[in-house]
Amino acid sequence: MILSIESSCDDSSIAITDIKSKKLIYHKKISQELEHSVYGGVVPELAARLHVEALPKILEECKEYFKDLKAIAVTNAPGLSVTLMEGVIMAKALSLSLNIPLIAVNHLKGHIYSLFIEKESILPSTILLVSGGHTQIIEASSLNEMKIVASTIDDSFGESFDKVAKMLKLGYPGGPVIQEYALKGDENKYELPIPLRQSPKIEFSYSGLKNAVRLLIEKCEPIDEEKIADIAACFQKAAVTHIMQKTKKLFKIKAPENFAIVGGASANIYLRTQIEELCQKYNTNLYLSELKYCSDNAAMIGRVALEQYQIQEFISYEDIDIQSRLKVM
Ligand code: KG4
Ligand code: ZN
Repeated sequence: MILSIESSCDDSSIAITDIKSKKLIYHKKISQELEHSVYGGVVPELAARLHVEALPKILEECKEYFKDLKAIAVTNAPGLSVTLMEGVIMAKALSLSLNIPLIAVNHLKGHIYSLFIEKESILPSTILLVSGGHTQIIEASSLNEMKIVASTIDDSFGESFDKVAKMLKLGYPGGPVIQEYALKGDENKYELPIPLRQSPKIEFSYSGLKNAVRLLIEKCEPIDEEKIADIAACFQKAAVTHIMQKTKKLFKIKAPENFAIVGGASANIYLRTQIEELCQKYNTNLYLSELKYCSDNAAMIGRVALEQYQIQEFISYEDIDIQSRLKVM
């Protein structure tokens, strides 16, 4: 079995995965959303302190499996450096004391392999990764052949939901609450600009849209529940339309055989529905991770670790390093 640890942002999570069957033996996640909600976003130092409390608590429940462990896996990049550090320190300690190898896992690969938890992997695939930290299209040929073909030039998709929610005083994380309000709102009530609409480039941008929403909120003061619903609906429509316009461009150049959406924001139903329609039109196979594995979790880290274990992609206790940003995989 492999024990995997995830602490790249505001979720403390540990999983145990069986190497042969790929079965998830144990999985637990303690989210810090409530603690960060009052600040309207993740406070790194608070997150790190909460990991220090949560991770050992979860680990305590895994003790019975220690004798069966063949490796320890941990997210080491990308993420918040102070929170990544907590997972890495625990992983190092476990690897040393149990005398088993250490596996450093890239968080973005984790999101990609969230598609394959308890399953065989299906690659090559073109993958849209939408999370709080990333908005990217990745051509994934295999575990170690992944190329980022499009990314955001400023904010990410999930982050824009968080920021709009903060402006509307709806707490953190913004994605689920904006989605909920949008259901009750009129998506054609206000006109918002679709980012980079005229640009032929396949890239993303969310800061302009965020500022347009800020101005719209100011114009709509005083805000009531109905206005919140309408603003949420119009914002969600613009944010998803932007992704769809760029993804359609990519499909027009060459429709992929396999396509997937991963990351915390891939839980967005509005986005899922439109991607489904696009894939149907182009006869592309669409893969979605189960909703419970969309946001950060250790099961996805364990799933990548299985692949790395097979090819003995280990890292020494001295060499493992945290990287907050990672441009290439
Ligand atoms: O993957 P994740 O758990 O953490 C990162 O790696 O960033 O993604 C969290 C992000 C947050 O920004 C959250 O607001 C967004 O995913 N999110 C959503 C939805 N559910 C979560 N964004 C839009 N619609 C949703 N339904
Ligand atoms: Zn993530």
